[in-house]
This record gives sequence, structure tokens and C-alpha cells, in this order.
Amino acid sequence: MKLSNRLMAIANFVPKNSIVADIGTDHGYIPVYLVENNISKKVIGTDISKGSLDKIIEYIKNLNLEHKIDARLGDGLEVIKPYEIDTVIIAGMGGLLIRDILEKDKEVTDSIVNFILQPMVAAKELREYLVENSFEIIKEELVKEDNKYYEIILAKKGKSYIDKEIYYEISHLLIKEKHPLLKELTQFRLRELEKIAEDIKDIDTEKSKERYVEVTSKIRDYKEVLKEIES
Ligand SMILES: C[S@@+](CC[C@H](N)C(=O)[O-])C[C@H]1O[C@@H](n2cnc3c(N)ncnc32)[C@H](O)[C@@H]1O
Repeated sequence: MKLSNRLMAIANFVPKNSIVADIGTDHGYIPVYLVENNISKKVIGTDISKGSLDKIIEYIKNLNLEHKIDARLGDGLEVIKPYEIDTVIIAGMGGLLIRDILEKDKEVTDSIVNFILQPMVAAKELREYLVENSFEIIKEELVKEDNKYYEIILAKKGKSYIDKEIYYEISHLLIKEKHPLLKELTQFRLRELEKIAEDIKDIDTEKSKERYVEVTSKIRDYKEVLKEIES
């Protein structure tokens, strides 16, 4: 089983010998990769969609991995018991849905050690939630696949402090390590903001004026971050 860059980066965050749940596993590639490569002895793959789950059950049956991968149908962490796993993967969903899943079954969330999270959108809101709810972001990874950027977050319970608002949007850990993809991601987002600013600059409504101030302030922050990356 060969994983895509995005899935590989997620799997690379899984500590050896951990007991993992992959919430919203869909195709089931991560559970299969983790057991086939002896990273995990047992993986629970879950999905809210019966169609996805049936596919996984068929897939693991064909690979004779039913004794190592447990497929469960259900919403988020509701199908996991407290202390049943030490590592959770929630990937390929929006940041707000990931946040809601962590928030909904608190007893289970509180019993997990490693949180590997890959939001498709709203990474900023997810980081805000993590920092405000006693998680510590330990490490981040950034990958590019099919011309899209993916941010992968490894968090644990703990305290963290983010000293500039912009670091919720652009990971200060990636800035610190001068991640090779971060400059192009920042430039890409900066171009998008500049396009928005250009489009709305002459619109004479209260809402557009407010948005323009917001966007130009963000452009300044992005330029500051670019300086940090280049320094
Ligand atoms: C885009 S797929 C991502 C699959 C895989 N995790 C990945 O990163 O490639 C999202 C999956 O999450 C499932 N899903 C959405 N909400 C869920 C929830 N609340 N609990 C469990 N699974 C959920 C969907 O059914 C779908 O199979």
C-alpha cells in the first residue's frame, strides 16, 4: 500500500505502537498502511457513512486484516470508548467539523494523547479552538498535492500560547523551521488577498469598506510573515 503525500504525512505523525482511531476513514488507506507497516497493532476505522464503511469492511476482508482493523459506523468519537485509543486521526474534513467532533464526546477526547488533525478549510479556527481549549500544537507539516496545500497538525493536551493573531492562520512552527513550502503558500494566499482588495476597493458600501480595511490589514500581516520566512 503506497499512500499519497498527504496521507503519508498524516501517517508519519502516528507514534509507533499506538492504538489509533481514524475518524472518517472513508477509503481506509490509513488504517491499512498503519497495520501493514507495523506502526499500530490495532486501528479502529470509523465513518458516519454506511456506504464508506461497507467499502472498508470489504477492503480489509480482502486483505485478511479483520483481526487488526475494526470498522465502526457512527458520528465522530461516539463509537470510541474512553481510554480505548491513544491516538486519533481526523483528516480530510473542515476545521469546524473537526472542532465539533473533539468537543462533542469530551470524555473520549480527554482520554486521548495524540491528535493528528488535517483540516481541508478553517485551519485558523481549528488552531484557535486548540489553543483556547488546553491543547498544545506540538508539530505541523505542510504538503502540496495536485496543486493544493494541506496543513497537518499534531496536538496533545497541554498549554500553548500564540503571540500574534496571524500565527493562527500561518503556523508559527512552520515559520520557525522555515518549512520549504511555506513561502509559496504564504505568497499564494497573499495574492488571493490582493485580488480581493483590488476587487472591492472602489465599492462604496459600508460592508465593502469594512472588508477592505480587514483585507488590507491582513495583507500587511502576510507581508510581515514573508519577511520572517525570508530572514
Ligand atoms: C473527504 S473524506 C476524508 C477521508 C480520509 N479521512 C482522508 O483524509 O482521505 C471525509 C469522510 O469523513 C466522513 N465523515 C464526515 N463527518 C463525519 C463524522 N461526524 N463522523 C465520522 N465520519 C464523518 C465522511 O463520510 C467521509 O467518508
